[in-house]
Amino acid sequence: MNTLIVNGRHVKAREGAMLLEVIREAGVSLPTLCDHAALEPWGGCRLCLVDVTRNEWDGWAKMVVSCMFPAEDGLIVRTDSQRVVETRKVVLDLLLARCPDTPLVQKLARDHGIEQTSYQPNPEPTDCVLCGLCTRVCDHIGVSAIATVNRGAGREVAPPFHEAPPDCIGCLACAEICPTSCIPFTASDSKRTIWGKTFEMVRCTLCGRAFITKEQAAFYDGRNGVPASYFDTCDECKRKAQAKQFSRLSAGAGR
Ligand code: SF4
Ligand code: SF4
Ligand code: FES
Repeated sequence: MNTLIVNGRHVKAREGAMLLEVIREAGVSLPTLCDHAALEPWGGCRLCLVDVTRNEWDGWAKMVVSCMFPAEDGLIVRTDSQRVVETRKVVLDLLLARCPDTPLVQKLARDHGIEQTSYQPNPEPTDCVLCGLCTRVCDHIGVSAIATVNRGAGREVAPPFHEAPPDCIGCLACAEICPTSCIPFTASDSKRTIWGKTFEMVRCTLCGRAFITKEQAAFYDGRNGVPASYFDTCDECKRKAQAKQFSRLSAGAGR
């Protein structure tokens, strides 16, 4: 266990933890947009900035993104130093210029005392905060169907050539993880459409519910030892079958 000081309080950190985790465990809240427990830290939104120093640094301190910085023994962390607060405000001010109509961004900005951006607002407002969660979750699944493209105000997430991405399996993970819900999709009992691509659904052989796209089933077939028959039934029916089997075994053991 490492010991650090966060805003004047001694806190313990497990080996391998990043600063953001320790700061949160210490009960200090930091705004974040690109952090997600299921994904490796990326350091893209810059909102989790903090000041770090050590006793032996003679008053010298540096700003780091806490989601990417290891919680080393002896670190002295400030989440509310003047330069950290000011820098976070600049990041939010710029974000508000990019996304002036996005409720999440408006709220974060307001929480930090910014009602209106001091920069030129984006003439084509977007809800995409460029957190990279969508592209990273797609990479994490092993598909990589979408990417961040263009520069400056026109930077956006898109499939190659803005056409229906051939590799997309229609899992909707990108849309579900998006903090501003700005990836449009439609889902019905028989079809799903996302990124301009429409998917047929596989139905559970027990309850008949459509629960996965055919492309998802094909993608996972044989991967990590998952047999094709795994996708015959939905998660809900699998759970029920397991519960039934468990109660049968328990009844047998009690005899
Ligand atoms: S829906 Fe397509 S683009 Fe989105 S995460 Fe799944 S595979 Fe990737
Ligand atoms: S589309 Fe959503 S998840 Fe993807 S980068 Fe933009 S805000 Fe983040
Ligand atoms: S949460 Fe650390 S940079 Fe986004």
